[in-house]
Amino acid sequence: MLEEKKIKVLIDEKQINDKIIELAGKLSEEYKNSNPIFIIVLKGAFVFASHLLLKMNIPLNVDFMVISSYGDSTESSGIVRIEEDMSLNIENRHVVIIEDIIDTGTTLNYLRKKIKANNPKSLKIVTLLDKPSRRKVDLEVDYSCFEIEDYFVVGFGLDYAQFYRNLPYVGIISEE
Ligand code: IMP
Ligand code: MG
Repeated sequence: MLEEKKIKVLIDEKQINDKIIELAGKLSEEYKNSNPIFIIVLKGAFVFASHLLLKMNIPLNVDFMVISSYGDSTESSGIVRIEEDMSLNIENRHVVIIEDIIDTGTTLNYLRKKIKANNPKSLKIVTLLDKPSRRKVDLEVDYSCFEIEDYFVVGFGLDYAQFYRNLPYVGIISEE
């Protein structure tokens, strides 16, 4: 059964939490007087975003976008679908997108353009994981907690066929 496959830990809970605390400090400083809007890209970013935002001590707003690009395989379909759009008005506001992982960059490139069209005052991208070697489109990432090699990873919000999102670490599905 899918859930019984072995997972090899790539980044453990403490490493993740330490990085999140560091990032929350930087963001709290950068946005302390600007009431930013954090847009959480669902589903994958929900765990990272909640840990990050709980450690920030400034006034901020939260919104969500539900995106799908993968289906149930480990290769991106390349087609980005917005299942549910955000609801706040972002015009003239400082906006930060929170993503779980940037792979080819297709998803965020699309999202960034779509959000920019609504005239935010600024727009930055924050991600838990980045696989720079897989990039297919040019994308500037403002804050990335960890750069990883070309592995398919699960945990801390990331799924394989909708499983493993609740693992408290980032791991690789082992084939043994
Ligand atoms: P991109 O559009 O190719 O950058 O893919 C981004 C999206 O693909 C992410 O938001 C994830 O949902 C998913 N994704 C990419 N790599 C992985 C992975 O290693 N594990 C789980 N999901 C992934
Ligand atoms: Mg996903």
